[in-house]
Amino acid sequence: MKQHALIVEKSADEFLVHRDIYRDPEVFDWEMKYIFEGTWNLLGLESQIPKAFDYFTTHIGRTPVIVTRDAKGAAHCVVNSCRHKGALVCHTQQGNSRNFVCQYHGWAYDASGKNILIKDKKEGGYPPCFDNASHDLAPVPRFASYRGVLFGSLNPDVPELETYLGDLKTMIDLIVDQSPQGIECVAGTGAFTFQGNWKLQLENGVDPYHFSSTHPSYIQVLKKRAESKSVYSNFKSSELVRGTFAFGNGHNAMWGPAPSDAATPLGHSRAELEDRVGSVRAKWMAYVRNITAFPNAQFAENASLQLRIWRPLAPDLTEMRTFCLAPVGEPAEARRLRIRQYEEFFNPTGLATPDDITNYEDCQRGMQAAGIAWQQGHSRGTAFQRAAAPAEALELGVHPISSVVGGFNLGDETVMHETYRYWRTLIEQGLMNDAAQGSES
Ligand code: FES
Ligand SMILES: [Fe+2]
Repeated sequence: MKQHALIVEKSADEFLVHRDIYRDPEVFDWEMKYIFEGTWNLLGLESQIPKAFDYFTTHIGRTPVIVTRDAKGAAHCVVNSCRHKGALVCHTQQGNSRNFVCQYHGWAYDASGKNILIKDKKEGGYPPCFDNASHDLAPVPRFASYRGVLFGSLNPDVPELETYLGDLKTMIDLIVDQSPQGIECVAGTGAFTFQGNWKLQLENGVDPYHFSSTHPSYIQVLKKRAESKSVYSNFKSSELVRGTFAFGNGHNAMWGPAPSDAATPLGHSRAELEDRVGSVRAKWMAYVRNITAFPNAQFAENASLQLRIWRPLAPDLTEMRTFCLAPVGEPAEARRLRIRQYEEFFNPTGLATPDDITNYEDCQRGMQAAGIAWQQGHSRGTAFQRAAAPAEALELGVHPISSVVGGFNLGDETVMHETYRYWRTLIEQGLMNDAAQGSES
């Protein structure tokens, strides 16, 4: 079958990725069905719905959903599709509403998704069987929070969320524990599309190799500041190491040297953090860290902290929603630095994001080239890959399936191997299950 030829391991150290995974509509359909609609997706943060009747909308694969807080304070995740004829019942990204009224024929739902009105029902001549069916907004089968980070799954048959996350929990803890009150979204979001496959973002988010060539303008700014000894004065040194951790279920992490405390908003809280979480975890909080919550989100922390959630729209079109995150109650000066550095680096109008997007779109266009099947972009770091946890993992208490620790310019690419193995497994299992069900019927 075709899927066997997309991620190929010819030998222990030859890992090949076929260009069709970024451009083939059939592969895209498999991804929607077996990956995005087959496992847990990150939806957002509980802090986006702090009060009763708060809600935000998002998607799990192709399915529009509403995450909402009911009158009693319980959070729900329901499908944003009227049970009558399917219209969206909520059109805004976020807000506060006691109910959702469908604008087509006026059916209404409360903040838990329960149907509270079928317009003119008495006069409607409905058959008795009509009341046998639920008219409520369909609940998403699995919905859970890990420390205020919300996940949902359309597939009821997934492991418990904490099992699914595994060691990624430790990496999420490094974010949530930055304040005793947890984290929040700074007001405002970024939303944009790029004309490229979603896996270009998935890969780039943990790709240290691109930084020096893709972001020269940002590096120039850093150098100027270093000359004035203000920020990032220790950003690059031959003594510094960087590394990657590949976890189970497609999750991964990339980490690197910490900028100087003066360069980061978290630097303002260094003493408090060391007291509260200990010196090792405080050190890791200060590191540059990007982590992937497979399949649809990444947290990126360097000069500021970003949550990125993507929604694949087509093989060559992806929607991005981006949020600036912050520890609740951080000092005003730190918050100011966080927002300014977020705008500078992460914003769609910043110094980094347009560079990255241009590359994704260039890759997508370049990969239309006929006759070139295989990428050469997943080999760097192979000689340094190890199965045993390095000291950096052990001090943090994580046990990656594989990891790489190397020099500043190593630019490991092997972190994607486990992610793509899991990607392949989900698709293969899905196709096999469908084939088995087809042969039964
Ligand atoms: S589609 Fe919603 S009330 Fe008809
Ligand atoms: Fe980048």
